[in-house]
Amino acid sequence: MTDKVDFTGVQWKSVEWTNLCLLYLRAHESRLAQPILGDDVAAGDIERIDYDFGRMHRALHPDTNQFMVALRSAQFDALMAAYLQRHPEAVVLHLGCGLHSRGLRMAVPDGGPWYDVDLPNVIALRRQLHSETERYRMIGSSVTDPGWIEELPAGGPVLIVAEGLLMYVTLDEVAALLHRLLDRFDSGELIADFLSPWGPRMSRIFTAGLIKWGTRDGREISRAEPRLDLVGSSPIMAGYERIPLSRQRLLYRLQYAIPAVRGYDRIYRYTF
Ligand SMILES: C[S@@+](CC[C@H](N)C(=O)[O-])C[C@H]1O[C@@H](n2cnc3c(N)ncnc32)[C@H](O)[C@@H]1O
Repeated sequence: MTDKVDFTGVQWKSVEWTNLCLLYLRAHESRLAQPILGDDVAAGDIERIDYDFGRMHRALHPDTNQFMVALRSAQFDALMAAYLQRHPEAVVLHLGCGLHSRGLRMAVPDGGPWYDVDLPNVIALRRQLHSETERYRMIGSSVTDPGWIEELPAGGPVLIVAEGLLMYVTLDEVAALLHRLLDRFDSGELIADFLSPWGPRMSRIFTAGLIKWGTRDGREISRAEPRLDLVGSSPIMAGYERIPLSRQRLLYRLQYAIPAVRGYDRIYRYTF
């Protein structure tokens, strides 16, 4: 195939590698007979990428872990689709997009512009896989840098989406980001997942403190940015009943029964 892309330089355990793992898990899940997410774009991406996926496969235990990723992403997709059905003209800001194919799968025909935003090194990787169009844009910047927001059209509705991102920046930085975004748009929704207070505690032990903060109920966000009203939340593992493999479904059911595990990562929806 002529359009193979070379990812062999991606370093083990780098941010780029983490994104490649997530893409790999979504692609893996799409090959099930009855997938929950069914991300065929991810499967196509993985086929085009030149990388040692054998080693990654052994490290990831995809037969079990594919569902954690699929359940979370499917919930994000459903919440986003519901908003975009009501506001097809909305600007979509997909923050910390990584290598997620959402912008290619979900963009509303003739809808508003879609911006995929991530750190410059991740966007550089992404650009090897996909191209911009008039309505689909990629911005390589830290979300905490105020400059990128100046590129966005002002006013109108906005859908702000952050999957697996906002726990990596401090709560003060999240608040500053949200102030800037809400100053720029007239109305909208924020859909984001946050870890419980166990997140930063575990991270101090296992991941050198990468996780900056955690929340019991998502209310810190409304306190930090009072224009945001919390309207709903659910554990990322909600919907595990749809797991099509019986052993994995049982495993997720057992985990879901433990409050600390069930509540570890939750998706929150806010309106303004
Ligand atoms: C766990 S990955 C999730 C990626 C993607 N949302 C997904 O679900 O596949 C976290 C992403 O957040 C990005 N990220 C972390 N800090 C960031 C920042 N300050 N600005 C922009 N992106 C950031 C990382 O580069 C990475 O792509």
